[in-house]
Amino acid sequence: MDHGLKAIKYESGKLLVLDQLKLPHEFVYDDVSTCEEAFDCIKSMRVRGAPAIAIVAALALAVELWHKKDGTSKKQDLVEFINRKLDYLMESRPTAVDLSNAIQLLKTQTQKAASDATASDETQACVSIREKFIEVAKKIFEDDLATNQRIGMWGAEYLRALQPPVTSTVTDDDFRYYTTSPPGTQGAPDQTYRKISVLTHCNTGSLATSGVGTALGIIRKLHDMNYLDHAYCTETRPYNQGSRLTAFELVYEKIPSTLITDSMAASLFKTYKDEKNITAVIVGADRVVRNGDTANKIGTYQLAVLAKAHGIKFVVAAPTTSVDLEKENGDLIKIENRAQTELTQISGAVVGKDGKVDVNHTERVAIADQRINVWNPAFDVTPYQLIDSIITEHGPVPRNAKGKFDFKAIMPERW
Ligand code: MRU
Repeated sequence: MDHGLKAIKYESGKLLVLDQLKLPHEFVYDDVSTCEEAFDCIKSMRVRGAPAIAIVAALALAVELWHKKDGTSKKQDLVEFINRKLDYLMESRPTAVDLSNAIQLLKTQTQKAASDATASDETQACVSIREKFIEVAKKIFEDDLATNQRIGMWGAEYLRALQPPVTSTVTDDDFRYYTTSPPGTQGAPDQTYRKISVLTHCNTGSLATSGVGTALGIIRKLHDMNYLDHAYCTETRPYNQGSRLTAFELVYEKIPSTLITDSMAASLFKTYKDEKNITAVIVGADRVVRNGDTANKIGTYQLAVLAKAHGIKFVVAAPTTSVDLEKENGDLIKIENRAQTELTQISGAVVGKDGKVDVNHTERVAIADQRINVWNPAFDVTPYQLIDSIITEHGPVPRNAKGKFDFKAIMPERW
């Protein structure tokens, strides 16, 4: 299904990236035609989200190669050019592993194309290398969409299966319930289930990926299947990916939803536990390491602690491109620290006296004493013990005998 909203648009030789700093007020695509522009776009967070970062980096270099900006007809010079550009892009943001996984893949495939290009004609060898790079970059983009769709399907099924059947009488017009025959009970009488409400953090939707999204992809799928009662999203301070981006996506998709500040999560769980039946917190991932410890947007860890305290499931939606098998545990993850102005200043569209938002008039305003010291880690690490399930495109990751997540079972080729 095409969900319309696209952070990244690509065709041979042309890459357009939606400027997410202007959302939700303006919808402007930037033409990204060099690695330097891609670096700046990623660093300034005009594009963000682990998969989207990797895709933009890969496609920006593909665009350069399509226009032959490497300016060489020597095979070895071209390989060196590609590696140099990829090393440079690697420095744009450190925590999300999708970027380094994509770069690793692109380097390996470039090297392979160079070795396979036995033609004595160096110019022809360069054509093959460029073509291979462009093909792999495009595949990273396209595979991400298919991966998200599978995560959505697995995640919706995982959450749906958590709901016990309702035994009390439910009227036909109560929209908080759905009726179905449970899987594996074909022919059994229909049973009634309560719809699912979830809380999500940061932005993991179409804007963070090639489309559909991971955690937000699961929410979309639940909604498409009529299993979703309500989606709550956090504001996600300090950068407000929740209020600026996720709220926008939820409204755009007409998904029943409510925005809360990060500090309201505990109260939400307590206040609405029975009435709204919040089944799970669903988040994305920037880097999941071998044991399942997961780096994600700052504030994720506290939601996991709160979920545990309230008996609510905590679910991570992560493509295997977000998995880092080189790190044993989360202590080894490098957390990006960002500028203090992200806490002390804020941007927004001006609201007129009539209460109307003037989308053509945006301003940056100070919201704290500019001299205060600031600590601004962009991510935190949730220990695997607090995670009930990690949903990948291959389904929920099983656990080993020690209770750690067992990625070997789902991705033996990378072990
Ligand atoms: O700083 P950001 O906006 O790039 O952080 C994004 C997140 O933390 C997302 O949850 C994560 O990248 C997964 S996106 C599918």
